[in-house]
Amino acid sequence: MSVLFTPARIGPMEIKNRFVRSATNDRMVADDGAVTDEAVDFYRSLARGGVGLIITGHAYVHPLGQGSVRQTAIYDDRFVPGLRRIAEAVHDCGGRAAVQITHAGRQTRPEIIGTTPLAPSAIPYGLQKTVPHELSDEETEQIVEFFAAAAGRVKAAGFDAVQLHGAHGYLIGQFLSPVSNRRTDRWGKDEKGRFRFLSEVLRRVREEVGKDFPVLIKLGMEDFVDDGLKLADGISVSRRLRERGIDAVETSGGFSEGMQNTRRNVLPGKGEAYFRHFASGLKKSVDVPVILVGGLRSLALMEEIVRSGEADFVSLSRPLIREPDLVSSFEKGASEASCISCNRCLLSQKPEIKCLVLEEELRGGSEG
Ligand SMILES: Cc1cc2nc3c(=O)[nH]c(=O)nc-3n(C[C@H](O)[C@H](O)[C@H](O)COP(=O)(O)O)c2cc1C
Repeated sequence: MSVLFTPARIGPMEIKNRFVRSATNDRMVADDGAVTDEAVDFYRSLARGGVGLIITGHAYVHPLGQGSVRQTAIYDDRFVPGLRRIAEAVHDCGGRAAVQITHAGRQTRPEIIGTTPLAPSAIPYGLQKTVPHELSDEETEQIVEFFAAAAGRVKAAGFDAVQLHGAHGYLIGQFLSPVSNRRTDRWGKDEKGRFRFLSEVLRRVREEVGKDFPVLIKLGMEDFVDDGLKLADGISVSRRLRERGIDAVETSGGFSEGMQNTRRNVLPGKGEAYFRHFASGLKKSVDVPVILVGGLRSLALMEEIVRSGEADFVSLSRPLIREPDLVSSFEKGASEASCISCNRCLLSQKPEIKCLVLEEELRGGSEG
């Protein structure tokens, strides 16, 4: 029997199989970031399609932490009823649901947030010219509180878990990385100082949700830039997090602009599971449930990874945009995802995520 279809736990949460839908910004929101009917239907289809744990797209904990237009908001209690509809839809279909919470820090634009982006240090992001505002001690503490309040809303909305977005160069990653954090106060200076922001976020989130509510993290294990974090640093951060009660680590990496986390042209048998060494390296070093994401396309490889203990869960994003029912297709005998990792879903400016290749195929089919 396939290990992928056996249940497993993250903290007290039992998940019916080993498939996770990795956080994916669905862009299916109203202008103010509130959940729409379309989003509820979309999450229902994922749950009906058999995914064990579904993690929403990253939801911003404060208006100044919004990273892109059409992103889910969680900075106010008024967003809770909409989010609750997602949790209920997923539960109705036997799945588990989590919300990923985030603050974009410098990885946004003044046109989106209406002012200068915030950051640990006044170092522009990528090729942007805007120099971000360096957070004061007090402002940093306030953002910790925004994360805690958002986590409280996740629980109030009836979700099973919360995931901190500590990957892809957003604020948590900006504090962790020596490339973006040049502070000389208690929030920087050395590895311990750079870890303090995440440590404080976890401490306050835990206080807010209590000890029995799973708190997960998607963590950048490596920055893929000179002088950035390397795998050994990612493992060291994971160890500290585990000591402080994190329930699972999803291993990812890279800043958004490098697009290391969404590598292109991955196909079954070609460039698959590109962060496998992150998960296996972490599993060997720290006793924590590990979720592997990044270019997983063939069932046999996923089976091998989980069976060999290199990861406890496999997590997918792009393949589930194209085939929300992929997990049940696997159960019925399919052996690989048909996603070609072209990234058009990611780069498209359309109001909601969809597989544009599929759309074209269907259009071609109906014309022919
Ligand atoms: C359209 C799109 C939106 C994404 N949004 C998020 C997000 O909100 N949070 C996050 O952690 N990762 C996000 N990602 C990254 C994915 O979760 C995942 O880490 C990456 O795509 C690699 O997995 P895959 O090969 O299965 O697609 C997004 C990816 C895509 C394609």
